[in-house]
Amino acid sequence: MAAGGHGNGVESVVMAESGKTFYIETFGCQMNAHDSEKVIGTLEHEGYRRVETEEAAGLILYNTCCIRDKAEQKVFHRLNEYKKMQGEGKQFGVLGCVAQQEGNRIFEKAPYVSLVSGSASYRNLPEMLVRLEAGEKRITGLDDRQTEETFDTEFTARSNPHRGYITIIEGCDKFCSYCVVPYTRGKERSRSSASVLAEAARMAAQGFTDVQLLGQNVNSYRDPLGHMTFAEVLRAIADLPGIRRVRFTTSHPRDFTRDIVEAISDVPAICDHVHLPVQSGSTAVLKAMQREYSREWYLERIAWIKAARREISMTTDIIVGFPGETEADFDQTLSLLDVVGYDAVFAFGYSPRPNTPAIGMAETVPEDVKAARLQRLLEAQRERQRTAYERHVGQVLEVMVEGYNRQRGQITGRSSQNKTVNFTTTQPILPALGSYGHVRVTQAYPNSLVGEAVHVPHVVGLAASGLVMA
Ligand code: SAH
Ligand code: SF4
Ligand code: F3S
Repeated sequence: MAAGGHGNGVESVVMAESGKTFYIETFGCQMNAHDSEKVIGTLEHEGYRRVETEEAAGLILYNTCCIRDKAEQKVFHRLNEYKKMQGEGKQFGVLGCVAQQEGNRIFEKAPYVSLVSGSASYRNLPEMLVRLEAGEKRITGLDDRQTEETFDTEFTARSNPHRGYITIIEGCDKFCSYCVVPYTRGKERSRSSASVLAEAARMAAQGFTDVQLLGQNVNSYRDPLGHMTFAEVLRAIADLPGIRRVRFTTSHPRDFTRDIVEAISDVPAICDHVHLPVQSGSTAVLKAMQREYSREWYLERIAWIKAARREISMTTDIIVGFPGETEADFDQTLSLLDVVGYDAVFAFGYSPRPNTPAIGMAETVPEDVKAARLQRLLEAQRERQRTAYERHVGQVLEVMVEGYNRQRGQITGRSSQNKTVNFTTTQPILPALGSYGHVRVTQAYPNSLVGEAVHVPHVVGLAASGLVMA
């Protein structure tokens, strides 16, 4: 559903007559998902109508990811499937990270593609669409870390009417040795705090209550006008009437500062969750990864988070099998699970990526060892998560209602710590999607909680106990 505030009855008649239709498929991270929402909003503003199948579409767009080899393979596999559809007067466009990485080579591999654009060029989409409509065959929007501009648009078509993303910083200047992002998303550049706050206020006015600030390095945020720090932006958004939850992702340990922990401690609307990717528990491997911090530096930040006046849930990303990773290095990574106590771990086997510095390093960890380490890590975390989630049993958590599981007679909610809470209610009427309620947790699984809705009169007493956020 489009929440961009565009499109009235008259416009939709014109759109139907013009018959310009598009289909879009999105892979990759949250930044890509949100970019697609902006692209959809832009296309709709240009008179295109979104359709749900490739068959019904005049323009087929594919927003791509190449963070690991498997992700990239998927793209070329899908592009091959498109091949069968040529000749039906359809046009094809490749967007996102593979578009930027492969550039003009895409036209050679897939001559039926007419548009190739990386995310740093989306602000030029309206102009590229005009050329596409004129029948031009090889339109590119490629940016080799040149642009200083961000893609700000008021035509974002957010897919969820209650919870939405705002990109506050684009690109990346970190150059971790394994990673494609600095090459695919361009130079690091922040939006002004005024523009971010204006977007958040517009969302609040449209009924959004949960806002997630996005950036590959969200804590690298620097207000170009120098008015506000990242923590101040968090506090200011949390203060907006109607906003009940502010989240952010992803934090790089280099940029994660103490004032962020302070802000979370002080302000209930700033969600009590930090995703702080560590990548490895071994300082030697971190050095080879060019992460620019040591195990100790990372653990110091974890200590700040643990010392907060409010419990803050921690999650992380880990790469196993990086060139040079020994069994002892891997044990150091494993030990983090106990030292930190994560609520979730996203782990990946190292995948060599074109153009990155690590591509030149000899791979020392055979694929089977890599797979075995990955398996051990995920199993160890699953066991720990089973116990970790039990701490919530007996607590009353505030949840936002996100869906209904009629088969199981349960309502699905999301807690401030970003945990899934499936619950039942004795009330005859189901709570509305996007509404907030309180749930007493009765059972814990490694990835979700189960509970019962608490009726409102309890809330006053519970709020005083500190278990319920006002
Ligand atoms: N900007 C974020 C992460 C972006 S990519 C950060 O710095 O933490 C998401 C995750 O994919 C990374 O945290 C990393 O764990 C993983 N990843 C990135 N490149 C990879 C590669 N070449 N092989 C395997 N995993 C990779
Ligand atoms: Fe990639 Fe590192 Fe930038 Fe994250 S910080 S996007 S891992 S280069
Ligand atoms: Fe993939 Fe690009 Fe995101 S490579 S993970 S879509 S930044």
